[in-house]
This record gives sequence, C-alpha cells and structure tokens, in this order.
Amino acid sequence: MVRRPTEAGYEAAPNIALVKYWGVRDEDLGLPYNSSLSVTLNHLRSRTWVQFDPTLTEDRFLLGRDEQTDGPLRSVVEFLDEVRALGRFETHAFVRSENNFQTASGLASSASGFAALAGAASLAAGLKLSPPALSRLARLGSGSACRSLFGGFVEWRAGTRADGRDCFARPLFPARHWPGLVDLVALVKDAPTKPIRSAVAMQRTVATSPLYAQRLREVPRRIRAMKRAIAVRDAPALFDRTMEECDSFRSVCESTEPTLDYLVPASRRVLAEVRAANEENGTSVAGYTHDAGAHIHVFTTTTHSARLRRRLGAVPGVEKVLVLSPGPGGRPLRRWGR
Ligand code: PMV
Repeated sequence: MVRRPTEAGYEAAPNIALVKYWGVRDEDLGLPYNSSLSVTLNHLRSRTWVQFDPTLTEDRFLLGRDEQTDGPLRSVVEFLDEVRALGRFETHAFVRSENNFQTASGLASSASGFAALAGAASLAAGLKLSPPALSRLARLGSGSACRSLFGGFVEWRAGTRADGRDCFARPLFPARHWPGLVDLVALVKDAPTKPIRSAVAMQRTVATSPLYAQRLREVPRRIRAMKRAIAVRDAPALFDRTMEECDSFRSVCESTEPTLDYLVPASRRVLAEVRAANEENGTSVAGYTHDAGAHIHVFTTTTHSARLRRRLGAVPGVEKVLVLSPGPGGRPLRRWGR
C-alpha cells in the first residue's frame, strides 16, 4: 500500500525500427521471435506523469486534455497492474500524458508513450529498476517501447528464456555517434489511423504468411550487417540494408491473410522517389523504411538532405516532411505537470 501520494514524470521519444519486430512467441510476456534494431528520434516526445494516490478508487488516464476510457484506459490500467505487482501494493493512479505530435498518427506514439509511462510509474512507485529491468517493464506495454528508453541506435535482443529475463533492449551507439545522419519523415495526407492493433496484426502474419519463416531466418544476418554499417558509418550500406529489411517486412504483411496493407498511394510514390534518387546518384544516398503506418522515414545524410527534402515535399500526397535525427533516451522530469 502506498500511503501518501507519490508522483513522478518521465519523457521518452519515438523510435523507428531499421530491423523490425513483428511476431511474438509469447503474447502475455511480449517475447518476440526475432531481435530488432532501431533509432530513437529527436524533436518528438511523450511526457507522462504518474501519481499514486490512496484516495483514488480507480485509475484515471488523461491524454492531452481528454479523459480516456475503454481500450486506451484499459491498456494503462493493465500496465499499472504490472507496476503494482512489482511493488507489491494496490494503490490507484492518476496518469497524465502528452505528445508533442499527433497520437496514433503512425509515428509510434505507443513506443514513446509506454516508455514514458514505464519510467514515470516505476519512479512514482519507488521501484529502483536497472535499465534492463525498466526495458523489460516497458516491453509489457508495447514491444517497441522497450527500445525508446535508450538514445541513438538500440538493439532489442529477443532472448531465449521462457520467462523473458533476457529479453530487453540495450543501447548500441549514442546519437552523437553519427552526427550527419538525418531522418526525413514524409507525412502523407489521409494516412489511416491504425485500423488494427500491431499486436493482433503481427500474430496474423505469424499464423498465415508463407514468407514469415524465411524472414526469421534472414533477420540475424541483417542485424549483423546493419550493426557493421552503423559502426563504421557506412551510409550506402545502412540505406541498402534498411530498404531490404523494410521490403521484407512489407512482403510478410502483404502476404498475410487477410492482407495487411499499411501504405497509401502517396507512400508508394515516396518509395519510388527514393529509388529514383539512388539510381540517379549511382549509389544509395537515401534509404526508406516505414512501420505499421503510411508515413515514410527516409534516412539520408546532411550532404543530400536539403535537396531530398524538397524532392519528397513535391511528391503528390505528401503533406509535410519532418527533419529529424538520432536523439536522446528517456529521462525523468523534475516538475509534476498536473
Ligand atoms: O510496439 P508495437 O506493438 O506497436 O509494434 C511495433 C511494430 C513495428 O513498429 C512495425 C516494428 C518495430 O519494431 O517497431
């Protein structure tokens, strides 16, 4: 039992996977079939404050100014239950969260949101979690959230244990490792808001895609190649591996029954524009990727980013191009923001 109100805040940024997590071997614990690798981004962030308050009779969740009910509230309550189980207390909480970008827009608000919630709730509960333990906790909210706690380039190792103790993310290289790397995010018009939860969609792929087993065999090699490219800052190699992996992810989605098609025509035009830019340059100057959404992340370097940004901005159906870079990991917030 928490006897006095205890509170804490935490902020975390979205990440974009260069090697995707897609499919779990244990749904309750969120244990993936394959390891994944991501970049945590700058500028975008979720901020979350949690107050455990013995006077509350149920958990409350405010997202921006809106009191949440149903699904969003349920997932926060379930997550708080994990925190309460770890801390062996039953006190309810008031949770307030805000994103400086549109929620559920396909910009991975669940990753930054659950990373921020894991940080704030564990601090407010007085749990002193190590980075791996905090990452394991965040994983229970949303798989990709376990990577958003760390800055720069991050690897989430799938692990082999049934209890998931070896299944957490760790930082590979900090954001400053590659100062010239840029992520141009082409935001497309009319991007559908998530029609189906990723947790459900990925299990449909596991059950029905004839390409899934082959993908799992290829991922370890791709992660090794990606890590080598990042270590020596080999931009063309990083871009080629990123596109190859994204194409593999898209094929397993499209070959799922019923099919999973996250892109809109404008997204496909952006992919084509990146391929054309690479052809024209005779080498890969950019690499595209996307997650379970219609917006396209285009990695490039500062040498090409201004020109490429203009070019992507002119693609019909592209509303806006954000200019992001690798960014810092999660951190506690000092002021209670209620
Ligand atoms: O973390 P979730 O459950 O929203 O799933 C994320 C799935 C992808 O974004 C498509 C891939 C990834 O590794 O982030």
